[in-house]
Amino acid sequence: MDVPLVVQEPASVSARIGIVTVSDRASRGEYEDLGGPAIQDYFRDVLASDWTPVPCLIPDERVVIERTLAALADDERCCLVVTTGGTGPALRDVTPEATEAVCQKLLPGFGELMRKVSLEKVPTAILSRQTAGVRGGTLIINLPGQPKAIRECLDAVMPAVPYCIELLEGPRLETRPERLVAFRPKKPAGG
Ligand code: MTE
Repeated sequence: MDVPLVVQEPASVSARIGIVTVSDRASRGEYEDLGGPAIQDYFRDVLASDWTPVPCLIPDERVVIERTLAALADDERCCLVVTTGGTGPALRDVTPEATEAVCQKLLPGFGELMRKVSLEKVPTAILSRQTAGVRGGTLIINLPGQPKAIRECLDAVMPAVPYCIELLEGPRLETRPERLVAFRPKKPAGG
């Protein structure tokens, strides 16, 4: 007897994006978190495909940052996690250390490019230690704390992000081409 073949349309996956504000003062309510909302505005502006923000506001505590990044990757199944704050040389700045500790692979090109574009704007960009890496199927990227710097850095690295997420077997992120063109290397013919 023939078994009826049920072809199911793949459910359209909403890409989950973790947005982590790392700030002692914002997490104590001493000032408003401007970084997290700036990141959400950015993705709303450039992404055309469905996505869901998973926002977190935490202090500059290495253990807390590590646990938050791990939970967003492993439990919340975020394909992308971006952090803002804690990348400078101040005593409490430990976001890059926490990121390196939870990632299995580092992607130093992200930090190199973000520092390059930022140095064209401000000499103090040399103080940023921002990095990026991969934990399981999640790309984690550090951004600086200032909303203006966030936009400049995301504009520089975002063209490579959808392809990186595809290599990690995550959802396909579509961008608004008038705002940002994602680069995907062409597959070799016959491959
Ligand atoms: N990048 C850009 N584009 N614009 C900036 O104003 N500020 C720098 C740097 N990167 C800056 C920038 C400064 S002053 C510091 S200390 C580092 O980011 C780290 O910032 P954070 O501690 O808020 O992460």
